[in-house]
Amino acid sequence: MRVIIVKDPEEMGKKATDLIAGEMKKKTSFILGLATGSTPLSLYKEFIKRNKAGEMDFSTMITFNLDEYIGLEPTHNQSYRYFMNENLFDHVNILKKNTHVPNGIAEDIDASCQEYEKMIDEIGGIDYQVLGIGGNGHIGFNEPGSSLGSLTRIKTLSTETISDNARFFEKKEDVPTQAITMGIGTIMKTKKVVLLASGANKADTIKAALEGPITSMCPSSALQLHRFVTYVITEDCATKLTLNYETV
Ligand code: PGA
Repeated sequence: MRVIIVKDPEEMGKKATDLIAGEMKKKTSFILGLATGSTPLSLYKEFIKRNKAGEMDFSTMITFNLDEYIGLEPTHNQSYRYFMNENLFDHVNILKKNTHVPNGIAEDIDASCQEYEKMIDEIGGIDYQVLGIGGNGHIGFNEPGSSLGSLTRIKTLSTETISDNARFFEKKEDVPTQAITMGIGTIMKTKKVVLLASGANKADTIKAALEGPITSMCPSSALQLHRFVTYVITEDCATKLTLNYETV
């Protein structure tokens, strides 16, 4: 595992963009795994900036998002499809038909989860997966206790996640209690991962993920078994780490 410690969220977005853009140059049709939440916003800002400057081309890119709330229409302003359109897809030269977000209103959710997993496999797998991390160590919506071999499926959100995400909704009761998420096994199949984290409030989580035991109680710790993962984290998020890491 490579750990890069940067000054602030802006640097985090730039560094992660450098990693992904470097890899994009090697392939004509790049398969990118995407995440939502406040953390990847600096990454998407940088994507947009470089696309407008003609330095990054999304015209042949295919994307798969990690997760989506069950029950929210794609047009709902808190759905992850809406988030992706607003914060990235509407501002770069990507073809919407090449962007995939799990369908939270599918009639048969189980079947749509299997179909999502199959689509990723059939296209040859994800080249680079972007991840954030929840305060409870979740990646995607793989909450503590998730099977480390899990594939795309329905997950019930933890109390902590519901509280964390309540800030985006009018009231806590409006936060959906279930979501579709790629599994930890799905994430482990990706070729490369970049995990972003910022803020002092995530310092304990990052310590547990990087230097703690591999356990389903901290789902991100499973990445210790991934062949190619880079953590790009801010200084204030790295204060609890005890080993020596790269600082830029
Ligand atoms: P955040 O969420 O980026 O809004 O902190 C991260 C996550 O829950 O994965």
